Amino acid sequence: MEHFQNPRNVGEISNPDGVGTVGNASCGDIMQIFIKVNGNRIIQATFKAFGCGAAIATSSILTERIKGATIDEALKISERISKEILFQLPREKIPCFTLATNALRLAVEEYRCKQVERHQKEEFDSLKRGAQRG
Ligand code: FES
Repeated sequence: MEHFQNPRNVGEISNPDGVGTVGNASCGDIMQIFIKVNGNRIIQATFKAFGCGAAIATSSILTERIKGATIDEALKISERISKEILFQLPREKIPCFTLATNALRLAVEEYRCKQVERHQKEEFDSLKRGAQRG
């Protein structure tokens, strides 16, 4: 209730390392989670929600708890929160909560894809420089 009345980490991150956007098909609401990562640690996590109180509160809790965590830790924290919160929510509100966890998963996927692309580009550039030197 406190996180619904006073949500933390609301808004966008400029130039995020990962963004996850998901919708709740049953109500049409949308959730976005933004992450900024440094050295595999989430240094900033925010959310934008067009959703109900349950979606806002759970996103606030999730973004608050994953700050400072590594990517893998953040996914585990998300699972742990799922177990904690799902017991407290009415059954019809469960899809509202899963918006935040699914959006985080997508944000992490985008971050990981960017990491792979960056690594491949560095390797390609290195090979190109080597070939130019002969
Ligand atoms: S009713 Fe739409 S997100 Fe909860």
